[in-house]
Amino acid sequence: YAGIKEGNTVLDLGSGAGNDCFIARAEVGETGRVIGIDFSPQMIDRARKNATKRGYTNVEFIEGDIENMLLPNNFIDVVVSNCVLNLLPEKDRIFKEIHRVLKKGGHFCISDVVLNGIFPKEFTDNASMYAGCIASAIQKDDYLSEIEKANFTNIKIERTKTVVIPDDVLQEHLDESTIAKYKAGNVGIYSITVTGIK
Ligand SMILES: C[S@@+](CC[C@H](N)C(=O)[O-])C[C@H]1O[C@@H](n2cnc3c(N)ncnc32)[C@H](O)[C@@H]1O
Repeated sequence: YAGIKEGNTVLDLGSGAGNDCFIARAEVGETGRVIGIDFSPQMIDRARKNATKRGYTNVEFIEGDIENMLLPNNFIDVVVSNCVLNLLPEKDRIFKEIHRVLKKGGHFCISDVVLNGIFPKEFTDNASMYAGCIASAIQKDDYLSEIEKANFTNIKIERTKTVVIPDDVLQEHLDESTIAKYKAGNVGIYSITVTGIK
């Protein structure tokens, strides 16, 4: 869904070991450029080694916080990100940053975890359950509204996948009655892929 074209400059937020950057490199070819940002020095080191192994000279990795990117305005054709923005507490700030660095007419394609419905109090009170499953993820409608507020247009959910927490994980953290309440409730955890244009 990322719509990457040959020659594009692509930015991957929270690039980890660089896998999505290497997929993007296959799309942009020799004439494009791919930049990955991650705040973990270990991941940057691993990604750089992976790029060297592949002999790529137009894929670079920057160590830094994606909430304050050291990149110019109107610089990027396509922003991609997989399973990162849900970890950040201030969604409004990151979507404004994405808007700032994108060229006019540029677009983003982001996969992320969102919630639907109010989770049982016992679920969110359980620190490890909360941290492992839904920490910092927000309601889907609020997520889309933050994207709108950042002035993106053509906002589209391209794909939705339900995230199922396995029974053994639930049983490890919650008692039977809370699990029953969770399963009976109208709540869901979803992985969505969303696109939008500046
Ligand atoms: C779940 S991993 C996803 C990695 C990669 N996108 C992938 O799909 O394999 C999240 C990554 O985001 C990075 N990350 C989390 N918050 C960040 C922030 N505020 N700034 C930069 N990187 C961040 C982490 O270091 C980690 O590498």
